[in-house]
Amino acid sequence: MIATTQHRWCIKHEWNVSRHIERTKKAHTMTIIPTIVLGAALLLAQLFPLAGMAQAAAAAGENQGATYTGEKACNTCHALENKHFGPTQHARIFRLNPRNELERQVCEACHGPGSNHIKNPANRDALISFTREWGTPVEKQSDTCMACHKGGQRMHWSGSIHATNKLSCSDCHNGMGKFSANGLLKKASITETCYTCHAQQRAEFRKRSHMPVPEGKMSCVDCHNPHGSTTRPLLKADTVNEVCYACHAERRGPMLWEHAPVRENCMNCHFPHGSNQAQLLQVARPFLCQQCHGNTFHPSTMYNAGQSLGGGAVANSRVLGRSCQNCHSAIHGSNHPAGARFQR
Ligand code: HEC
Ligand code: HEC
Ligand code: HEC
Ligand code: HEC
Ligand code: HEC
Ligand code: HEC
Ligand code: HEC
Ligand code: HEC
Ligand code: HEC
Ligand code: HEC
Repeated sequence: MIATTQHRWCIKHEWNVSRHIERTKKAHTMTIIPTIVLGAALLLAQLFPLAGMAQAAAAAGENQGATYTGEKACNTCHALENKHFGPTQHARIFRLNPRNELERQVCEACHGPGSNHIKNPANRDALISFTREWGTPVEKQSDTCMACHKGGQRMHWSGSIHATNKLSCSDCHNGMGKFSANGLLKKASITETCYTCHAQQRAEFRKRSHMPVPEGKMSCVDCHNPHGSTTRPLLKADTVNEVCYACHAERRGPMLWEHAPVRENCMNCHFPHGSNQAQLLQVARPFLCQQCHGNTFHPSTMYNAGQSLGGGAVANSRVLGRSCQNCHSAIHGSNHPAGARFQR
């Protein structure tokens, strides 16, 4: 069972489309049917007060009259799942040190009261399940987890791009299997979990220059909060620069001589994940600089005779090596009294 569930979201687009269809279908039936049922129930209620109440209750309660059975009952049929569940934090706390009545229900703390499910395992309304095949609405799945995990990092979950794209908690987590050292994730690492859907970022981290994510020195959550954030795209801090300063504190300054684009946004010159230019740069130098600086004052025309390598003369320092930075070396800003042009 585990093997099939892990392959489910390989193709992100397909996933998005099917989710959308599933959702629209649901949306329609959800708005129409309750209106009809409720209308009928109201009518009945006027005619036969008692019968009307029973009808209305049947319409509202999906898992009518279900009671908690305790985990022993579940495990007679689900021995394999019980084995997976054993090593998780959930199992240990719910079994050994439950903080409240809900946690004491163990399996049913997440899957809901199970008596109806045991009577008829094929009834999909009688259970909260977290696999996509089963069809429990995503909001209901998330609400179940959030009953215990509101707040903290998940302060901005509702309305976040992952929530609005219909991700459920169990797209990244497996609450009842220990596949990762920390965080009860679906895959062995944070990065692998994200890569199941974000293939483009996997490619970016394979470029010649990249943040040391593949080396395991950091992960996506050093910069992003997958549970939601007030800053696009799911950034952990209020601005891109604040994200970078967390580790590259020496760039924060203050500097006597600031270079405006550095102060504005590190992404003016760098990519965040990876680049085939040196040091995550977006464009090779001198073109990087020349996107903003014209040729006036000291032209940077490169390939005239006497300047290029092919010309036979000494190669021009504006072209070679660090290019403009052979002279303007302190490009992130300078604290030297004579550093106004970032030469020191
Ligand atoms: C009599 C045997 C039996 C017992 C007892 C039982 N189940 Fe099941 N359960 C099944 C069967 C069979 C299915 C598969 C139904 C299907 O695929 O239509 C199932 C499916 C499930 C699923 C859904 C898996 C999916 O595909 O998403 C969950 C979750 C689950 N059971 C949890 C529980 C819990 C929690 C309990 C205890 C309250 C429990 N079961 C007790 C037989 C049982
Ligand atoms: C912390 C919440 C939580 C608890 C407690 C929990 N489960 Fe689950 N269960 C899940 C999630 C999440 C999944 C979906 C895993 C996945 O994505 O494959 C799941 C999946 C399942 C499935 C379907 C497995 C599959 O891959 O098709 C069964 C059956 C099941 N649980 C039974 C149980 C039983 C039995 C217990 C108690 C021993 C239990 N669960 C306790 C959250 C929980
Ligand atoms: C897009 C992927 C993703 C989704 C969706 C997601 N999470 Fe997480 N979650 C993570 C990652 C990654 C971590 C970090 C794990 C670590 O630091 O080892 C994490 C950490 C956690 C933690 C432990 C740290 C803490 O904040 O206490 C909890 C609890 C948690 N998530 C609950 C949830 C719940 C509840 C939902 C659904 C509302 C959810 N997550 C949805 C990826 C996700
Ligand atoms: C009945 C309460 C309850 C429910 C429901 C519940 N959890 Fe938990 N969860 C806990 C407790 C208790 C812990 C362990 C202590 C802690 O970290 O807060 C925990 C821990 C976690 C962790 C952190 C593990 C770590 O390494 O720190 C994650 C992730 C998590 N749960 C995800 C989920 C997801 C996803 C769901 C829904 C499928 C869920 N939980 C449902 C109570 C619950
Ligand atoms: C189940 C698939 C899935 C998983 C797993 C997943 N994401 Fe996403 N993520 C999406 C979708 C869908 C979007 C919506 C935008 C899009 O289509 O790229 C998105 C959007 C984002 C965005 C915002 C992009 C923007 O333009 O605003 C970031 C950042 C992001 N994800 C980071 C992560 C991180 C970090 C992880 C791992 C902890 C992760 N995602 C895991 C599906 C996923
Ligand atoms: C060093 C910090 C950092 C790390 C590590 C990081 N990101 Fe990002 N990511 C960013 C920044 C900053 C942006 C915004 C770029 C912009 O504004 O142009 C971004 C943008 C994104 C986007 C939006 C689309 C795009 O490329 O602009 C997605 C999706 C994303 N990251 C996913 C991931 C995933 C998945 C991982 C882990 C494999 C990851 N990121 C690791 C900093 C990081
Ligand atoms: C969690 C810590 C962390 C964060 C946050 C972070 N970095 Fe880094 N960065 C590193 C580490 C570690 C290295 C590798 C240093 C080494 O190998 O000597 C690195 C390397 C770099 C390099 C040099 C890459 C190369 O090829 O030599 C650049 C450029 C860089 N980071 C820019 C940024 C930018 C821009 C941001 C903000 C989007 C950022 N960093 C956020 C830790 C971080
Ligand atoms: C105007 C373009 C530009 C902007 C904006 C910029 N950088 Fe850089 N950065 C460079 C260049 C060019 C290099 C290569 C330096 C070299 O070869 O000496 C570099 C190198 C780096 C390095 C690795 C080498 C080193 O000197 O430590 C880090 C880390 C770095 N930048 C972080 C940042 C951070 C953080 C920001 C945002 C606060 C930022 N950069 C904004 C142009 C820029
Ligand atoms: C995104 C646009 C941008 C990029 C890219 C950029 N700069 Fe700048 N640079 C500026 C702005 C804006 C100023 C401030 C001009 C002012 O104050 O009049 C500036 C100031 C300077 C100054 C000081 C000049 C003065 O008049 O005070 C030097 C020298 C300089 N940049 C060199 C470089 C070099 C070398 C690179 C490439 C590594 C580079 N810049 C990349 C926008 C940029
Ligand atoms: C051989 C050394 C050298 C190289 C290489 C070089 N510069 Fe300069 N640059 C200077 C000197 C010297 C000044 C004048 C400093 C002063 O007036 O204090 C200057 C001034 C500037 C100024 C300020 C102009 C103004 O109006 O005040 C900018 C902008 C600038 N350079 C950009 C660049 C760019 C872009 C490149 C690469 C295409 C580059 N420089 C390559 C030496 C160099």
